[in-house]
Amino acid sequence: MSDNKNHISNGGVAANSTVPRHIALIMDGNGRWANARGLPRTAGHKAGVEATRRVVRSSAELGVKYLTLFAFSSENWRRPEAEVRELMRLLRIYLRSETADLHKDDVRLRVIGDRMMLAEDTRQLIDQAEILTAANTGLQLTIALNYGGRDELAFAAQGMIKDYHEKGYVPDIEEVESRFKSFLMTKDLPDPDLLIRTSGERRISNFLLWQCAYSEFVFSDVLWPDFDKTDLEQAIQEFSGRDRRFGNAICQQRLTKS
Ligand code: IPE
Ligand code: IPE
Ligand code: MG
Repeated sequence: MSDNKNHISNGGVAANSTVPRHIALIMDGNGRWANARGLPRTAGHKAGVEATRRVVRSSAELGVKYLTLFAFSSENWRRPEAEVRELMRLLRIYLRSETADLHKDDVRLRVIGDRMMLAEDTRQLIDQAEILTAANTGLQLTIALNYGGRDELAFAAQGMIKDYHEKGYVPDIEEVESRFKSFLMTKDLPDPDLLIRTSGERRISNFLLWQCAYSEFVFSDVLWPDFDKTDLEQAIQEFSGRDRRFGNAICQQRLTKS
């Protein structure tokens, strides 16, 4: 068995299916969920936090090792100020109310993205959660906050340029590619095996541009606040039916075992 899969027989996931080692999730559709109910968009974000709690728990139960959640993009600052304020408030509530439980469940929490633009109290909550859970070996939960894939690539390029400036030489292309990952915000994570986007949108919206080079994509029509363990299992089932070839002529990883 290769190290990015984990066969399970659990609940709604077929016994012969493969649980991806790393799932990346674009949690989308909060606004439309609220609209459909005649509620303000912020009500959708509140319901979205509940979905996040559920999916974090379900991922751990299903044996997912890495879960990376897109919570706020570097472009989401373009939204009305009141909506941004509410999203940041909900994030603080989530961190205050969940950190102890996550720690109890052996979850390690990390945040990626440019946190310098976040408020001081939010940064402190993030630091505390990261420090408290740093040694945990269960689910590796990463929250992407004020994250943008192009931003991350620009930061990485700058880091590398500085490094070689100090070293005093220009690396060849193989060296650049092999070392580039170590300059990314996700340097400690394997690449996602599966990227899920909810709400029927079929785009990447600047998420994990480098890392998703060979990820399998599953698009769900379910709006994020309604997304639950069954939907996660369904996405995993779909992933299980894929043949991953990584550019080779023959399948390198047939996921479903007969
Ligand atoms: C996802 O839901 C949450 C964030 C992007 C912060 P949206 O707020 O994008 O909801 P829709 O896409 O407008 O329905
Ligand atoms: C992507 O969703 C960002 C997050 C889920 C946090 P958006 O709703 O911001 O993406 P677009 O604008 O529809 O591409
Ligand atoms: Mg959206």
